[in-house]
Amino acid sequence: MAIIMKTNLSIFLLIAITSIAAAQAGRFNITNKCNYTVWAAAFPGGGMKLNTGESWNMNITNGTSNARIWGRTNCTFDNSGLGKCQTGDCNGTLECKTIGTPPNTIMEFALNMYNDLDFYDVSLVQGFNIPIQLKPSLNSCGTVNCTADINGECPTPLKVPGGCNNPCTTFDTTEYCCNSDSARSAATNASATCGPTTYSKFFKDRCPYAYSYPKDDATSTFSCMGGTTYDVVFCP
Ligand SMILES: *[C@@H]1O[C@H](CO)[C@@H](O)[C@H](O)[C@H]1NC(C)=O
Ligand SMILES: *[C@@H]1O[C@H](CO)[C@@H](O)[C@H](O)[C@H]1NC(C)=O
Ligand SMILES: *[C@@H]1O[C@H](CO)[C@@H](O)[C@H](O)[C@H]1NC(C)=O
Ligand SMILES: *[C@@H]1O[C@H](CO)[C@@H](O)[C@H](O)[C@H]1NC(C)=O
Ligand SMILES: *[C@@H]1O[C@H](CO)[C@@H](O)[C@H](O)[C@H]1NC(C)=O
Ligand SMILES: *[C@@H]1O[C@H](CO)[C@@H](O)[C@H](O)[C@H]1NC(C)=O
Ligand SMILES: *[C@@H]1O[C@H](CO)[C@@H](O)[C@H](O)[C@H]1NC(C)=O
Ligand SMILES: *[C@@H]1O[C@H](CO)[C@@H](O)[C@H](O)[C@H]1NC(C)=O
Repeated sequence: MAIIMKTNLSIFLLIAITSIAAAQAGRFNITNKCNYTVWAAAFPGGGMKLNTGESWNMNITNGTSNARIWGRTNCTFDNSGLGKCQTGDCNGTLECKTIGTPPNTIMEFALNMYNDLDFYDVSLVQGFNIPIQLKPSLNSCGTVNCTADINGECPTPLKVPGGCNNPCTTFDTTEYCCNSDSARSAATNASATCGPTTYSKFFKDRCPYAYSYPKDDATSTFSCMGGTTYDVVFCP
């Protein structure tokens, strides 16, 4: 009798512990290893202040395309979660309901797409603010990152407080943006109007796995089995 009770208790504890672990598990575990505070942001998904060493475990709904995760710096928010950030600000809210303003280094996702694959990449199309890395839990899927000292080496015209702008943001021309109003009519000949530039090469040389301009080659995109969990690290 005593043994049966003990067994039942163990099973109960095991179930309890397992449910706690499941409740905390998310597909994205976002960790700040920078020696400054980063306000993590996800769209869709919200946002969370992360002091050095802290993590945010979150999910992005299966089937979401055009999802993104990024970090914001030098933010101030009031108790109701309103304020602003020097980089990556999402319309002044702690919990993002829009994408962020440049410059910000971005992890892009499309989850559970055809063949139930997740697609992901790191994009510098909105410039760079902090180093970032994404590592899938499956070792067979590629790690993507951009960890170079882009702010330190940023070309002067692209430098802004807290980051390094993409030339599209700074110059807003057809050549750099590929999709500006003036480019729309020319966009059918993307190869003529939108190739790599000296500025996009500045980013590509330092972060070869990242999208450096809007029509950058598809080798920057990676895929992994749907349902995979991902570790995102700021300053890996
Ligand atoms: C993430 O989704 C899983 C599976 O649906 C769920 O068990 C878990 O509680 C969710 N985690 C968070 C942090 O929302
Ligand atoms: C998230 O990552 C941090 C840092 O690697 C780790 O300490 C933590 O246990 C992870 N959390 C989960 C729920 O996996
Ligand atoms: C953060 O790290 C950088 C680079 O390692 C260093 O130059 C800087 O002094 C550090 N800042 C703080 C506040 O520790
Ligand atoms: C931005 O915030 C303002 C309120 O401060 C709101 O009226 C507006 O709809 C928001 N814009 C977006 C795109 O969410
Ligand atoms: C960045 O990713 C590449 C390719 O997966 C990997 O070889 C490299 O070690 C990573 N860099 C860092 C700093 O983790
Ligand atoms: C925050 O702003 C201060 C003052 O502009 C700057 O010195 C510092 O580098 C910024 N921190 C980050 C993480 O960008
Ligand atoms: C696109 O531009 C290239 C380079 O200027 C040119 O050689 C090509 O003929 C153009 N293609 C079309 C369809 O206009
Ligand atoms: C999301 O999809 C994965 C497989 O692609 C599945 O394992 C997981 O249970 C799904 N989660 C939800 C909440 O539907």
